[in-house]
Amino acid sequence: MRDTLHFLHLEDSPVDAELIREKLEENWPDCRVELIDSEPDFIQALENGGVDLILADYLLPIFDGLSALSIVRQRFCDVPFIFLSGVMGEELAIESLKSGATDYVLKHRLSRLGPAIKRALAEVHERITLQKMEQQIFAAARQWSDSFDAMSDGVSIHSADRTILNVNRAVCRLLGKTAEEMIGKKCFQVFHNTKSPIVGCPMEIAIRSGMQEHIEIEESMLDKWLAVSISPILDASGNITRIVHTIRDITLQKKADKDLKETQSQMLQSEKMASIGQLAAGVAHEINNPVSFVSSNLKTLTDYQQSIGQIISEYRQLFNRLSDLNGGGADIIEIENLAARLQEKESDLDIVHILEDVPNLIHESCEGLDRIKKIVLDLKNFSHPGEDVLKMADINQNIDSTLNIVWSELKYKATIIKDYGDLPQTICYPQQINQVLMNLLVNAAQAIEKQGEIRITTREAGDNVEIIISDTGQGIAAKNLSRIFDPFFTTKAVGKGTGLGLNVTYNIVKKHNGSIDVQSEPGKGATFTIRIPVSGPSSDNASGGAGVIP
Ligand SMILES: Nc1ncnc2c1ncn2[C@@H]1O[C@H](COP(=O)(O)OP(=O)(O)O)[C@@H](O)[C@H]1O
Ligand SMILES: [Mg+2]
Repeated sequence: MRDTLHFLHLEDSPVDAELIREKLEENWPDCRVELIDSEPDFIQALENGGVDLILADYLLPIFDGLSALSIVRQRFCDVPFIFLSGVMGEELAIESLKSGATDYVLKHRLSRLGPAIKRALAEVHERITLQKMEQQIFAAARQWSDSFDAMSDGVSIHSADRTILNVNRAVCRLLGKTAEEMIGKKCFQVFHNTKSPIVGCPMEIAIRSGMQEHIEIEESMLDKWLAVSISPILDASGNITRIVHTIRDITLQKKADKDLKETQSQMLQSEKMASIGQLAAGVAHEINNPVSFVSSNLKTLTDYQQSIGQIISEYRQLFNRLSDLNGGGADIIEIENLAARLQEKESDLDIVHILEDVPNLIHESCEGLDRIKKIVLDLKNFSHPGEDVLKMADINQNIDSTLNIVWSELKYKATIIKDYGDLPQTICYPQQINQVLMNLLVNAAQAIEKQGEIRITTREAGDNVEIIISDTGQGIAAKNLSRIFDPFFTTKAVGKGTGLGLNVTYNIVKKHNGSIDVQSEPGKGATFTIRIPVSGPSSDNASGGAGVIP
C-alpha cells in the first residue's frame, strides 16, 4: 500500500463532499480525494489507476451508485467500494452488499466512516497478502514439480503402506509406464508385477529398520542394472510418513566396469605371457642343460652296457669250460687262457671304473630329470590362468619357485642373496604373487649392467608379510620415480620392455590390499618393498568370492 491514499468520491452535493473530505482528512491528512459525479469521469478515473477505495452516493442526478458498483466489479474488481448515502434503507443496504459493495455508511453517521474504510483497506491488504502467498506457494509447487521431473534419476514417493503417491518423468521413462498407470498402486505391483513384496526387497528392509537402504540389482525385466536407494521419512515419533524411492540406471557404468576388469585381466595375462616369452630362451636353456647331460649319460650307459655285455659273455664261456672240467672234457690250460683273456678284457674295458661310474651317471640323470620336472611344474603354475584362486601360501616358497623360472635371466648378472625370515602362511593369489616377484626380479637383473647383487629379504611385520627386493643396478632417475607404475612407461629398448610389469605388479598388490614402495638413487640401485596382509585381501578385493584353498 502507498503512503498517500487515493479516494474516488462519487457525489453530486458539494456540501456533503466537503464534509466527507474533512472526515477523511481527519484520519488521513495526506489523502487525495477525487470528486466525480458522472459515469465517464468515473471510468476515466478508474482507468487512470491508483484508486485505493471508492466512496459512492446511492443516487446522483446523472449516474447512480449501483451502476458504478457494477462497473467496478466487472472491470476493476478488487477496489473496495463503500456506499455513502443519506437515505439508504435496510433493504437497499442488503442489496448493495449482495451486489458486491464492501460496506455502507449513512451520511448522518459519518463517525462510522473512518473505521469502515480502515476495515475495508485491511481486508484488501489481507487479500493481497493471501494472493501473494498463494502465488508463492504455486510457484514453489511448480518449481518442485519441474525439478522433480527434470531429475535424471527415477524418483517415486510412497506412503508407509508402499502405495505410490507420485513419480517423476524419469521413472516413467525407465519403466515405460505413465504416471497414471503407477500412482495409487503398490510398488511391488508396478516394479515387479507381483502381488506381494519380493524376497530381499530393499523397501521392506528400509521399512523395518527406518534407515536408508541402497542396493544394486540387475533387473532382468528391463535388461538393466539399477542402483536403488530407499529413504524413509520419519515423523517426530519415529513413524514412517513417506518413503522416497530413487532408481539410477547404472547399466553403462556396470558394462564399463566389466570391460575394464576384462581389459585388466587380459593385460595381466598378456603381460605375463610377454614376460614368459622374454624368458622362454633362458628357460629353454635351463631345460637344455639337464637334457644334454642326461642324454650324454644315457649314451655312456649304453657303451657301458655293451662292455658289461662283452665281459659277461667271456664269463659265460669260462663258466661253461669249468662245467666241462667236471666231465673231463676241458683242459686246464684252456681254462687258464680264458681267465687270462677275461682279465685282459676287464682291464681293457676298464670295468672297475664302469662299475663305479654307473651309479653316478644314474644318480646325476635322475637329478637332471628332477630339475626339468621342477622347471616345467613352475612354468605351469606360473602361466595357468584358470588356477588363480585364493590359497594359503608360503611366500618364501613362491620366491624359490619364481627364482627357478627366472634363473637364466639372473645367474650371469647377479649373485642372489636370500635373507628369508620365518613367514606365516599367507592368504593370497599365489600365481599373481609369483608374477609380482618375477617382474621385480627381472627388472632388478635388467637394471644391472654387468655384475651385481640382488638381495631378497622376507619378514613378518605386524599383520603383513614384507618382501624387500633390492639390487645394485643403475637405479631410477628422480623424475621417473612417480611414473614407473604407469602403464606402458618404460625406459627400455623396444622389444625389451613393455612398460606393463610394474603396473601389473601395482594392481596385483592393490588387489591383495597390500602396498608397494620404491626407494632409489641413480647409480645406487633400487629397493622395492611389498607388504601383503597375512589374512588376505578384503572380500571386496577378492574377485569371484572364492573360498580359501589351504
Ligand atoms: N630395479 C629397477 N632398477 C631401475 N629401474 C627400474 C627398476 N625396476 C623398474 N625400473 C624402471 O621402471 C620402468 C618400468 O618397469 P616395468 O613396468 O617393469 O616395465 P619394463 O620393465 O617393461 O620397462 C623400467 O623401464 C625402468 O625404467
Ligand atoms: Mg619389467
